[in-house]
Amino acid sequence: MNLTLKIWRQPDAASAGAMHTYQLADVSEDMSFLEMLDVLNEQLNDQGEEPIAFDSDCREGICGTCGLMINGEAHGPEVTTTCQLHMRSFSDGETITIEPWRSDAFPVIKDLVVDRSAFDRIIQQGGYISVNTGSAPEAHSVPVPKDDADRAFNVATCISCGACVAACPNGSASLFMGAKVTHLGLLPQGQPERDERVVNMVAQHDHEGFGGCTNIGACTAACPKEIPLDVISQLNKDLRTAIRNGH
Ligand code: SF4
Ligand code: FES
Repeated sequence: MNLTLKIWRQPDAASAGAMHTYQLADVSEDMSFLEMLDVLNEQLNDQGEEPIAFDSDCREGICGTCGLMINGEAHGPEVTTTCQLHMRSFSDGETITIEPWRSDAFPVIKDLVVDRSAFDRIIQQGGYISVNTGSAPEAHSVPVPKDDADRAFNVATCISCGACVAACPNGSASLFMGAKVTHLGLLPQGQPERDERVVNMVAQHDHEGFGGCTNIGACTAACPKEIPLDVISQLNKDLRTAIRNGH
């Protein structure tokens, strides 16, 4: 298929960016979206032009490194990561618009690459449990109800990609935080730091410039791991409880 690509180019964080138009011919529908960009970059290299900077690592939908706004949708038209999106989701002759995540808390570093270290700083504030090191305990010594284990596992699939923030008109990271707080709050190992965790993570979230949640739901629709919206209810419930407990 032949495509017209409108792509955001920005030399660095301090410079202004703009959309640039490229033509790409003979794109296979079996290519992944990132492979299509690889081909474009080879073409740009051959023409002596600067290749387009974009992030990727595993290219298997598990690391959360990739993430592009494609035709105005975070990760494009399918419920999947950008690296797992294939060109069969597009048509011959189509114009595709490709932009970086748009959020004040994710500043553009170059072209399609944004700085998502704000997520790391939120995790550093409580997205963990503290345990004594030593030999692994017997698996059945800490019983967990099956329903809790299943839900914890499901929400632990969040890959910290940031699509929820990019999709949200408020630029809120509530779905991301809700996934972490729900995951750890369902497990016995997550209880000792539960109150402290939610208070500190929410404070860091607000400090980083993410917006508040107003229950729009665009986050869960864009999430490649289908994290449900009710993790945000759990986040708010845990926050209220922590404040009541004096945190
Ligand atoms: S909640 Fe979903 S969209 Fe948000 S960071 Fe996690 S995996 Fe990505
Ligand atoms: S590159 Fe790892 S999830 Fe896309």
